[in-house]
Amino acid sequence: MQSETYAYNLAIDVGCGNGQSTFPLAKTWKHVIGVDVSGSQIAEALAVKSNIDFRVGLAEDLYFQQDESVDLMTAGIFIHWINQPCFWKEATRVLRPGGVLAVYSFNT
Ligand SMILES: C[S@@+](CC[C@H](N)C(=O)[O-])C[C@H]1O[C@@H](n2cnc3c(N)ncnc32)[C@H](O)[C@@H]1O
Repeated sequence: MQSETYAYNLAIDVGCGNGQSTFPLAKTWKHVIGVDVSGSQIAEALAVKSNIDFRVGLAEDLYFQQDESVDLMTAGIFIHWINQPCFWKEATRVLRPGGVLAVYSFNT
């Protein structure tokens, strides 16, 4: 599917680390934002040439993002690190109606 399709407009990867979970999104999404609280992780992500908007910040406070503006939010190997009630509230605020929050991890 092409990126001009509305459902593939804006994806945010929270707790994106060095971007390894974020870069694949840029293949299909028009605009991708990666957010991580660690400046060193974001610096690593920024060292790779891409059109992703990487930012240092808290997933619980996406102040730069308007209400109901995000189509997909991904949270990989991350959800156990954070203040979940604050995060759920913020995710609910920024996701558009019908938007998707994908929380994933792995079990060893
Ligand atoms: C295990 S790493 C996962 C990185 C990436 N999602 C991946 O799959 O490779 C978890 C990341 O969450 C970040 N993190 C922890 N608390 C955070 C918060 N409140 N807001 C944003 N990022 C946070 C850490 O700095 C770390 O880079």
